[in-house]
Amino acid sequence: MSGYEARFKVWRGDTRGGGLEDFAVEVNEGEVVLDIIHRLQATQAPDLAVRWNCKAGKCGSCSAEINGRPRLMCMTRMSVFERDETITVTPLRAFPVIRDLVTDVGFNYRKAREIPAFVPPSGLGPGEYRMWQQDVDRPQEFRKCIECFLCQDVCHVVRDHEENKPAYAGPRFLMRTAELDMHPLDAASETGLDRKRTAQDDHGLGYCNITKCCTEVCPESIKITDNALIPMKESAADRKYDPLVWLGSKIRRRSPAD
Ligand code: SF4
Ligand code: SF4
Ligand code: FES
Repeated sequence: MSGYEARFKVWRGDTRGGGLEDFAVEVNEGEVVLDIIHRLQATQAPDLAVRWNCKAGKCGSCSAEINGRPRLMCMTRMSVFERDETITVTPLRAFPVIRDLVTDVGFNYRKAREIPAFVPPSGLGPGEYRMWQQDVDRPQEFRKCIECFLCQDVCHVVRDHEENKPAYAGPRFLMRTAELDMHPLDAASETGLDRKRTAQDDHGLGYCNITKCCTEVCPESIKITDNALIPMKESAADRKYDPLVWLGSKIRRRSPAD
């Protein structure tokens, strides 16, 4: 493919507002959208704000919306677009804009802090943990997360409903709860912590209606919905509708300290 000139619309602005600006910019063989944004900075818009680090799909910082779809700019090849197509690049919609393509993703860090941490097994010290590969296969998939927050951005529960943010952790952090719940050495239940219950009661699992949009945009191809959210939902439903499970969970929650 020889070089050509592409038409871009890039959102420019800050906390006070902004809009799309038109650019015509050179594209060369093998380039990705982030290359074009860098060329814009170098040639036409030196103050264009963009966040990036690795340019290899691993740091999760170059998240943006390209033609309305949440994507990593460094992993979106220009060859997926028609040469005569106008390509629109906008900041993540679910989070407040700081400037141009840079958003404040602090919501996600606050939610991360709300998830109860791994509870070490009692009686075992560092270096004494032993796990079978077959026991870590399921939660290991979730460890591929690069925290790009594209799943958080696309999820309609918060994308168009700012008011849901206090009660809803979003797919990335519901998945984190599932990961810890599936961890073979997590001793949360011994301390009276029921992770599935916290997902339901404290982190808004019930808001998710399994549209699978989060799975579709995940650059690590993690099956967020099928492998993390649905198993937790099934378990939560069992508890709610099975009187014995419900009674058992009530009894277990009454710790000796109660
Ligand atoms: S499946 Fe659930 S968490 Fe994922 S985007 Fe849909 S509503 Fe949000
Ligand atoms: S689960 Fe996937 S889409 Fe969500 S933050 Fe992690 S890598 Fe990104
Ligand atoms: S720059 Fe690191 S994921 Fe794109």
